[in-house]
Amino acid sequence: MGCQLLLIVAVLTIIASGEGKINVGDVCNPNDLKGLTSFKAGIHNDTSERLAKWVGQSCCGWEGILCDNTTGRVTEIRLPGFISTDDFVFQSQMEGLLSPSITFLTSLEVLDLGGLIGLAGTIPTSIGFRLQKLRKLYLYGNKLRGLVPESIGNLLKLEELHLHENGLSGTIPSSLGNLQNLNELFLHSNQFTGKIPDSFINLTSLVRLDLHSNYLNDHMPQKIGELQVLEELDFSSNLLRGKIPSSVTNLTVISVLYLDNNYLEGAIPFPSSYGQMHSLSFLRLNNNHLTGTLPPNFGYLTSLQRVSLANNKLQGAIPASLGYLQDLTELYFNGNQLSGWIPKSIGQLSSLLIFSVSHNSIKGPLPDQMSSLQNLQTVDLSFNPLNLSSTPRWLAELPSLSRIFLAGVGIEGEIPEFLRTTPSPIQELDLSVNHLTGSIPAWLGRLTQLYSLNLSRNALVSEIPQTITNLQDLGVLDLHSNKLTGQISRVFEIGQRFSGGSLTYVDLSDNSFSSGIELMGEGGQTGIQFLNLSHNFLEGRLPNSIGRLKSLRSLDLSYNTLGFVLPNTLANESLLETLKLQKNQFTGKIPSEFLNLRKLKDLDLSDNLLEGEIPAGNPLSNFPESSFSGNRGLCGKPLTPCKARVLVKSTIPAN
Ligand SMILES: *[C@@H]1O[C@H](CO)[C@@H](O)[C@H](O)[C@H]1NC(C)=O
Ligand SMILES: *[C@@H]1O[C@H](CO)[C@@H](O)[C@H](O)[C@H]1NC(C)=O
Ligand SMILES: *[C@@H]1O[C@H](CO)[C@@H](O)[C@H](O)[C@H]1NC(C)=O
Ligand SMILES: *[C@@H]1O[C@H](CO)[C@@H](O)[C@H](O)[C@H]1NC(C)=O
Ligand SMILES: *[C@@H]1O[C@H](CO)[C@@H](O)[C@H](O)[C@H]1NC(C)=O
Ligand SMILES: *[C@@H]1O[C@H](CO)[C@@H](O)[C@H](O)[C@H]1NC(C)=O
Ligand SMILES: *[C@@H]1O[C@H](CO)[C@@H](O)[C@H](O)[C@H]1NC(C)=O
Ligand SMILES: *[C@@H]1O[C@H](CO)[C@@H](O)[C@H](O)[C@H]1NC(C)=O
Repeated sequence: MGCQLLLIVAVLTIIASGEGKINVGDVCNPNDLKGLTSFKAGIHNDTSERLAKWVGQSCCGWEGILCDNTTGRVTEIRLPGFISTDDFVFQSQMEGLLSPSITFLTSLEVLDLGGLIGLAGTIPTSIGFRLQKLRKLYLYGNKLRGLVPESIGNLLKLEELHLHENGLSGTIPSSLGNLQNLNELFLHSNQFTGKIPDSFINLTSLVRLDLHSNYLNDHMPQKIGELQVLEELDFSSNLLRGKIPSSVTNLTVISVLYLDNNYLEGAIPFPSSYGQMHSLSFLRLNNNHLTGTLPPNFGYLTSLQRVSLANNKLQGAIPASLGYLQDLTELYFNGNQLSGWIPKSIGQLSSLLIFSVSHNSIKGPLPDQMSSLQNLQTVDLSFNPLNLSSTPRWLAELPSLSRIFLAGVGIEGEIPEFLRTTPSPIQELDLSVNHLTGSIPAWLGRLTQLYSLNLSRNALVSEIPQTITNLQDLGVLDLHSNKLTGQISRVFEIGQRFSGGSLTYVDLSDNSFSSGIELMGEGGQTGIQFLNLSHNFLEGRLPNSIGRLKSLRSLDLSYNTLGFVLPNTLANESLLETLKLQKNQFTGKIPSEFLNLRKLKDLDLSDNLLEGEIPAGNPLSNFPESSFSGNRGLCGKPLTPCKARVLVKSTIPAN
């Protein structure tokens, strides 16, 4: 007995003096034990059940704990929320407060409590004074609030700091600039405000810097009214703002730089010379307020693979130096004020897969060199004053091209014949807002990989060709605002022979279709969520079979000459949020089944020939009068009460 006690004392002495060899079965350092038990006590729910097994005093044997085998001190806590083994993957969760006593573990080199989702509280200030051996600190993916303590800048051994996806706020501490060994700094998806600290100039080991999306993400105003307006006015002050410091060029080994979705202003300050930031491969500056021209030397960033500068206020021409970017696969410059011409050097971007420059002021003609982009899969040139007049022929010769966006670029004449024989596996084709005339060609049915077709806002005059029913994968069909005529029923047959129909979105509005509405086949396009047939000359009755469109969320049949009674099967579309039937000639009563349309948010039955009592109850009674006005004789809430006669009739049985 006495002997055993002596032994324990001896072991403790060895630990305290940091000498000797320690076995996993031994009692662990009292400070480590205290820190770990306090941590466990702060957690009231652990779906991984790892903490439940933390019993006794031999913490070095506990799951997620690693000790140094000479000092016996805990060097690693690895309790990530995402658990992945050879046999299974599991997203676990811990709820509770992060105990400040975690900093008792003064020999910690790795602290991984990332992705536990429910860890709340703050990052303890003592972390910077006590955990000076930390190399990796992962607290991402939790509910931590408050400031990042300035003391974190004392952790000079830190290599990886992952604090992203929390509710951290305040400014980014400039002391982080002291961390000369830092490779990875992830502070994205928090609520940091203020500027990127100048001290970052000293982060010369930084390989990955991610500061994206620092705004009030989960504090977005919910309330409607004055309060919301006030909060919105204040919104931009709650963002990471200011200029991108020119000192980013001192980050000589940076490879990943994500600063997107903030409120950064001013010009892009790099690169100023060849070889600067020579490892930069992934750059995202999109969704900021950047101004000025694109740096002429942009092409000096020779390692770039993916770049997005989209949705800023950048001006000037795309620099010719772009051609140096041999490894570039994705380029997003859309949503700026870029002008001039696309440089000929673009033809040298032999790795390019995605080229998106829509919504700028880029002029035509396009350089022929674009025909060298043999790997190009997506091209988006939409809404530029390209004045293309005809679709560029080289498009049809790019063997990998599958998504073509040429909306609003001034194309004239018929849908180009060469698309008929293109070897490209075209999946998306957007030629909307051009000056296309003539017919929708029958050969379109050969583009069997087509998923999305947008020919809206042109001057096409034909019928929809029968061959369109061959497009077995078509999901999105937007033909609105043309002068199309004839039957619409074909649309409901698209792909039916093969797959039962994959359509989810159909807009044929604002044309001259004149048939009735018939749903062909048995099951029939039950996946359609959005159907707009408004502003046509459709006539006849709405068939009972309309109730088969069970996925419908939005149905607009307004401005036609549809008539007869409304089928009560419409109420089978229980997901319906928008129902617009105004300006038709529907007669009879509103079916009481419409009360089942629980999700309805937008209803317009005005200017028809409906009569009788509006079925009383939600959601119908809650719509404004304008939803029912201009009918032959509707009454009841929200319109005036029905005539006494009706009232008497319904009150007699109650008496
Ligand atoms: C623990 O959290 C999980 C996931 O949120 C929840 O399903 C469970 O009910 C919680 N258990 C307790 C005891 O609170
Ligand atoms: C102690 O740990 C070191 C590395 O941390 C390892 O090389 C060594 O084999 C370990 N010794 C024992 C006895 O486990
Ligand atoms: C960068 O580090 C040096 C040397 O430690 C220091 O003198 C300087 O003030 C730091 N720069 C900034 C902007 O913090
Ligand atoms: C930053 O880079 C510039 C130009 O390369 C260099 O002159 C300067 O000394 C660097 N500053 C620091 C703090 O490394
Ligand atoms: C482009 O076309 C528009 C409209 O057709 C015209 O106003 C404009 O002058 C044309 N621009 C050029 C450069 O040809
Ligand atoms: C089709 O193009 C028009 C005009 O460019 C656009 O407004 C509409 O959203 C597009 N349709 C779909 C389904 O994307
Ligand atoms: C249907 O199309 C018309 C005309 O194109 C448009 O005004 C209306 O907003 C569309 N309806 C819905 C629900 O989007
Ligand atoms: C559709 O609605 C009608 C009338 O409300 C009902 O009798 C019928 O059972 C419904 N059909 C389906 C398939 O739900």
